[in-house]
Amino acid sequence: MTEGGGAAAAAGPPGAAAPRAGATDEPDDAAASTRRAWERASAKHVREHDELLQEARRARLLPVEEALLAPVLRARPRVLHPQSGHGVDDHALARAGAREVLGLDYSPTAVGAAQRRADELGASCRYRVAELPPFPVPDGGHDLVYTGKGALIWLPDLDGWAAEVVRVLRPGGHLFLHEAHPLVPLWAWDPDEARVRPDRSYFAAHHVNDTFPALGAVEHQHPLSDVVMAVTRAGLALLELVEHPDPFWRPADVRAAAWDGRLPNSFSLLARRP
Ligand SMILES: C[S@@+](CC[C@H](N)C(=O)[O-])C[C@H]1O[C@@H](n2cnc3c(N)ncnc32)[C@H](O)[C@@H]1O
Repeated sequence: MTEGGGAAAAAGPPGAAAPRAGATDEPDDAAASTRRAWERASAKHVREHDELLQEARRARLLPVEEALLAPVLRARPRVLHPQSGHGVDDHALARAGAREVLGLDYSPTAVGAAQRRADELGASCRYRVAELPPFPVPDGGHDLVYTGKGALIWLPDLDGWAAEVVRVLRPGGHLFLHEAHPLVPLWAWDPDEARVRPDRSYFAAHHVNDTFPALGAVEHQHPLSDVVMAVTRAGLALLELVEHPDPFWRPADVRAAAWDGRLPNSFSLLARRP
């Protein structure tokens, strides 16, 4: 399963929750240090090339993704995957029907590792380095924008992101998002009982990641209503919004009571450009 990039992070040393503020209040140096943190974290994709190659060979979408995306994937879409990371999901998309996948990520290391994997497997996946948004592709050229699994928390401005999603989709094209639930930063990782971290707020604008792989990076918090409103304000029609008890990623050595099925840990959203 894809790594969370801190999206599943909840435990660890407390840090002060910032008051909720405008979308542009992230200092430039925080954005730059987050990018450096991702460049360092992406070295793992190179070190673990052989394991990821094996994963890519048998990669499948999550059952909930397969269920919601089945009709879209049957039409053999051209897929854009913003913040594609190691790109293992792109092989799952190709196997499930995607004609081609273009992954965009601002880490040259992640892009290089994903392209090498795709080339070795002869997959129709290409990768390009880009700081997003904007998405460096023409208007209306894609049938599906597929993203999430630790993507939105790195973006300060969801309206700018959603406007780009609409621009690159053809009329009738879809956005699919499978993402960490915005409540996740509040869950402590105690094994005995699900607890809310005292140092976090659902309505904070951001917090500092205190776990691997993006330790020290600034994560933006977007309440579920902000995600839905950004998508609909941009002009997309909301088709599905589903909350799930399972996180999309669990560190191997952590067993948290917050994942026992009673709390939301991820969500899926399907929307369509009219
Ligand atoms: C959790 S990871 C990968 C998520 C990916 N969907 C997956 O399943 O592998 C998040 C990725 O977002 C990338 N990223 C973060 N902010 C970005 C930005 N503003 N522009 C481009 N890439 C960004 C990072 O380099 C990282 O590879």
